[in-house]
Amino acid sequence: MGYDESMRQQLARRNAERDASHLIPLLEPGMRMLDFGCGPGTISVGLAKSIEPGELHGVDMAESQIEMARVLANAGSHKNATFHVGDITNLPFEDGYFDVAHCCTVLMHVPDTQAALDEVKRVIKPGGLISCRETIYDSMFVSPESDGWDWAIKLVARRIEANGGHPQMGKELSENLHGAGFVEISPGASFEVMSSRSDIEFVTGSIGGVIFEPDAVARQIDLGHTTKEEVAEFKTVFEKWQTSPTAMAAPAWGWAIGRKP
Ligand SMILES: C[S@@+](CC[C@H](N)C(=O)[O-])C[C@H]1O[C@@H](n2cnc3c(N)ncnc32)[C@H](O)[C@@H]1O
Repeated sequence: MGYDESMRQQLARRNAERDASHLIPLLEPGMRMLDFGCGPGTISVGLAKSIEPGELHGVDMAESQIEMARVLANAGSHKNATFHVGDITNLPFEDGYFDVAHCCTVLMHVPDTQAALDEVKRVIKPGGLISCRETIYDSMFVSPESDGWDWAIKLVARRIEANGGHPQMGKELSENLHGAGFVEISPGASFEVMSSRSDIEFVTGSIGGVIFEPDAVARQIDLGHTTKEEVAEFKTVFEKWQTSPTAMAAPAWGWAIGRKP
């Protein structure tokens, strides 16, 4: 999905208290933790705080994201957080190094789920935990409802699929963790309700980047996913939604925690 301004804004809003609240009660001081696909580190630094004085290692394939994570960790004096450029299917750690591994909106973008989970499992110690949280595109809803919004949500999901990703990963996690040999799997799900003026402005910016940005439109047309006319039609629906006093958007999330036997 790229690392443009709309994605930067989405990731900047995240934090461990909100986006890893399902995992935080299981964390203990002194644990060694991996945040795979850590992005700019906004969740990682909160996780690092929860396991102090334990080590937090964030890994991401994008150098730009790792640089941001390092700046954030330095600014907050998170001395126990270290960030590495790397691929989660080939991690630079020995077998069984971590007590717990975490990710948020990563497996949905990785084409080979099994390869990623096998490699993450390798670096977790026996008895250690994995926690994954991902979005569920086909459960997301927007109000006031309209066919235009249904079209827009499907369009974004198709774009993720065209990149080899899995837009419904949030509801496929238990099955994938089970398939990778994790046990004691505990799933959960929730909606993130966005309805304040600043939420609506944020959705406006991020949808603008994903659907109306000229390169994105050209790519979707090339892929045969849409036409100029459909995009123009949605713009009208979207502008009406933005100014509605009851506008809300509710992305759906699924997560699962499992244990390495
Ligand atoms: C949507 S961002 C999520 C970032 C962070 N977890 C968060 O929620 O704020 C997905 C991240 O996964 C990273 N990523 C995707 N595939 C990867 C791979 N094979 N190895 C390492 N990082 C990967 C991307 O570079 C991107 O920073």
